[in-house]
Amino acid sequence: MKIAIALLTTGVFLFSWPFLSTSIHFNQELDEWIQNHANISISYILENIGGISPVLNDNEVPPGTVVASPLKSNPDYFYNWIRDSALTMRTLVHYLQDNPTDNIKISDSINAYIMSSYRLQRLHNRCGSFDENGHPGLGEPKFLANGSQFSEDWGRPQSDGPPLRVSTIKAFLDHLNSVSTEEDPFLSPSFIYTSIVKPDLEYILAFWQKNLFDPWEEINSLHFFNLLVLLAALRDGLLLAKENGDSHDFQLKLLNAFDDINLELTQNGGYVLPTVPYVVETPELRLNGQRKGLDSAVLLASIYAHDDSDKANAFAVPFDSKDSHILNTIYALVADMKYRYPVNSGRVQKPQKVGVGLGRYPEDIYDGYGTSEGNPWFITTLAASEVLYRWISEVDKSSNDLVITSDLVDFFGQFDESVAGTEDVTIVHQSPQFKKLLRKVFAFADSFVEVARLHVDKNSGRMLEQFNKDDGYMQGAESLTWSYSSFYNAFRWRQRAKKVIEETSIMPLWWVMWR
Ligand code: NOJ
Ligand code: NOJ
Repeated sequence: MKIAIALLTTGVFLFSWPFLSTSIHFNQELDEWIQNHANISISYILENIGGISPVLNDNEVPPGTVVASPLKSNPDYFYNWIRDSALTMRTLVHYLQDNPTDNIKISDSINAYIMSSYRLQRLHNRCGSFDENGHPGLGEPKFLANGSQFSEDWGRPQSDGPPLRVSTIKAFLDHLNSVSTEEDPFLSPSFIYTSIVKPDLEYILAFWQKNLFDPWEEINSLHFFNLLVLLAALRDGLLLAKENGDSHDFQLKLLNAFDDINLELTQNGGYVLPTVPYVVETPELRLNGQRKGLDSAVLLASIYAHDDSDKANAFAVPFDSKDSHILNTIYALVADMKYRYPVNSGRVQKPQKVGVGLGRYPEDIYDGYGTSEGNPWFITTLAASEVLYRWISEVDKSSNDLVITSDLVDFFGQFDESVAGTEDVTIVHQSPQFKKLLRKVFAFADSFVEVARLHVDKNSGRMLEQFNKDDGYMQGAESLTWSYSSFYNAFRWRQRAKKVIEETSIMPLWWVMWR
């Protein structure tokens, strides 16, 4: 008996030590920097929002209005872009979810954003007016910071503003419901639905099939980014329509549009092609030979179209972080941009797969001031890390074994040599191989954040829009709100991924023995 126990203990010891020895040690210094920079990012976001900003003047920037950057010339980014504002406010909603107490001012700021949206929606502008059919005026991409219309030439209309706003408002209303507090929205939820969300949904129904401008404001066509965030807004809109008892007829219209867009994205629209591993952002440009179709906007779309509550509802939106075309978009972007931008050259030699600075798309020539050559950006580099952190949380959530389909062999083969060939590879959930793979993907995700860190201002933590492809110095709009928003978002998913890695780093005893 004694001998048996001794043998058993030795056996356990022998079996378990290799696993124990690979348990993860987070780079404490990086960890602290990221946490700290996430806090800094929130305070710089607030600096760029009227009403809550310690530096902006209320007359120049009314409460709840987000300026893309405080810079008024070279480049002039002192505007309220509907896209940037919706995404920034969504980051603040997430911040509230993570820090539910003592943030009444932030909650007020989001309320003010919703109220000012009501006014802007009704402001006549160069895209049209509110009263026309489908509210064409909602396609206006930006307004002056003081709330008047912007009347110069621009890449307009842009169709992503209304859907991004719908999903942000939905996230905020859900948050208020979940905290069961005295905090009511300034406007009643049913008013918000009927007078702000519904017009945006009507805009979507009227315009989703039309050629409109992309998030980079350059190309009038149909785009993956726009369609995927439109689809997510229809999902969110359907839930709100139900909650608010809107007519069956309207709900049906939303549902039909949802199905049609879904089909366009996944089958008919040319976004997914049998010969191309990544998602094609603008099929028309690929068809006419102007671009390859590779674009970081695809990663941003995946991120912005998926949220925590996703799994809880019936309308599944495709192209989440587990989608092979999304992961292969990261792969293709890295493969292109590690050579395209000399600033990445130091990272090419590393034996391990490491992240590099990512720009918008290979053919980009916008340098942040005018046109010359494109550079890596913070939002796009951080988007890669966020998709990967999300992937870790997602694969952990489902307790199924991980099946690596043959189209992902290149991507996962970077981390695991046994992933090769043309057959699907199954990795047993929670096996040592599974855990090792998750850790490697985590390190890969971190390496994109480390790239961003190299270029952030060391003293102030300020982030501009881009960093120079040759020398790495930041350039373009100063203190870009969207850069901070994307940093916080990446941090938030990193926290979740980190938890997964920590929880799975040491093998449970029974598993070792059973194995
Ligand atoms: C400003 C736009 O915001 C940017 O996306 C675009 O690349 C340049 N204009 C092109 O000149
Ligand atoms: C240029 C970017 O291309 C566009 O997406 C963004 O809305 C504006 N800058 C403002 O940040």
